[in-house]
Amino acid sequence: MKALVYHGPGKKTLEDRSMPQIAAPADAVVKIVKTTICGTDLHILKGDVPTCAPGRILGHEGIGVVDKVGGAVTAFHVGDRVIVSCISSCGKCDYCRRGMYSHCVNGGWILGNKIDGTQAEYVRIPFADTSLYHIPAGADEDALVMLSDILPTGFECGVLNGKVQPGSTIAIVGAGPIGLAALLTAQFYSPAEIIMVDMDDNRLQWSSRFGATTVINNKDGKAVEKIMEMTGGRGVDTAIEAVGVPASFITCEDIVAPGGIIANIGVHGVKADLHLERLWDRNIAITTRLVDTVTTPMLLKTVRSHRIDPKQLITHHFKFDKIMDAYNTFGAAAKTNALKVLIEA
Ligand SMILES: NC(=O)c1ccc[n+]([C@@H]2O[C@H](COP(=O)([O-])OP(=O)(O)OC[C@H]3O[C@@H](n4cnc5c(N)ncnc54)[C@H](O)[C@@H]3O)[C@@H](O)[C@H]2O)c1
Ligand SMILES: [Zn+2]
Ligand SMILES: [Zn+2]
Repeated sequence: MKALVYHGPGKKTLEDRSMPQIAAPADAVVKIVKTTICGTDLHILKGDVPTCAPGRILGHEGIGVVDKVGGAVTAFHVGDRVIVSCISSCGKCDYCRRGMYSHCVNGGWILGNKIDGTQAEYVRIPFADTSLYHIPAGADEDALVMLSDILPTGFECGVLNGKVQPGSTIAIVGAGPIGLAALLTAQFYSPAEIIMVDMDDNRLQWSSRFGATTVINNKDGKAVEKIMEMTGGRGVDTAIEAVGVPASFITCEDIVAPGGIIANIGVHGVKADLHLERLWDRNIAITTRLVDTVTTPMLLKTVRSHRIDPKQLITHHFKFDKIMDAYNTFGAAAKTNALKVLIEA
């Protein structure tokens, strides 16, 4: 089968690999129908994610059809159409029993990281019963690809951890697919103000269409000043960091209001300064989270009922044999205006 393989920082190839096999009774093999590329794949390619070794097939998002099941799999059968979760969970360990699937001692975020991922014709999914989701008949499958990672990530790490509330003022720093997923799902809670910050005018235009009340281009470095001015010097109740670089985290530190929360989503490869000399007396909280995907079933219902439409995030379509072009398009988003690129079998 064809697969997109990581060969160390800056290096990837589309190559022939052997078909994945059932290695444990709880495994399933899924034939990938649609997959996509995540900002995290770009972090891996930058060398930010040391757990991902050269030789790894990348990808942790996608939908497909169950091709083989191990003897212990009871909830899925050959031919079932499924959403692959970016998090594999055994469902039995202490963390899984607490709903922290991302810290599953037998799984967690392993797909396209510690085990081969979804940017291939087939993928082996461990703990299939608790790591796959059935696709309801008649569902829009393009939209459901967004449920593997970005919607639960924006919602769990940004909106839930950031305790977005009716009437609150929130800022989302970073209007990439993850920041936009936070923007879509924040609106479940009717915040009064949603401020989006980015450097890319195209992404800010999308943000306005998706419900942002104010968009700020931070090219001039004045986002903090503008947010403090528009909030009467108070700042925001929730500052969601959706970039993964020190500058964006520091922006969140600078705009969080007393009593507020900084909800970090970004994957950070280097240290960021924590300005406790300014924050110690502000009664704030800082949260971090690797997405658990515990909200996937709930989000699936909201997509099915058209409360949110994540399909809007898909800007480009590629056939699987053009996945290198898909990477070039996604990697040059500022030029290509890409948000999510869909890669189809
Ligand atoms: N915590 C998790 O479980 C989890 C899961 C998935 C992705 N992530 C991470 O979330 C982050 C966002 O993902 P994405 O796919 O949207 O990435 P992306 O790179 O597509 O988007 C980041 C956006 O931030 C903007 N930006 C860059 N510097 C900025 C700054 N200083 N201020 C404001 N905006 C700035 C860029 O223009 C871009 O639009 C990444 O770090 C990704 O690895 C985390
Ligand atoms: Zn991801
Ligand atoms: Zn577990």
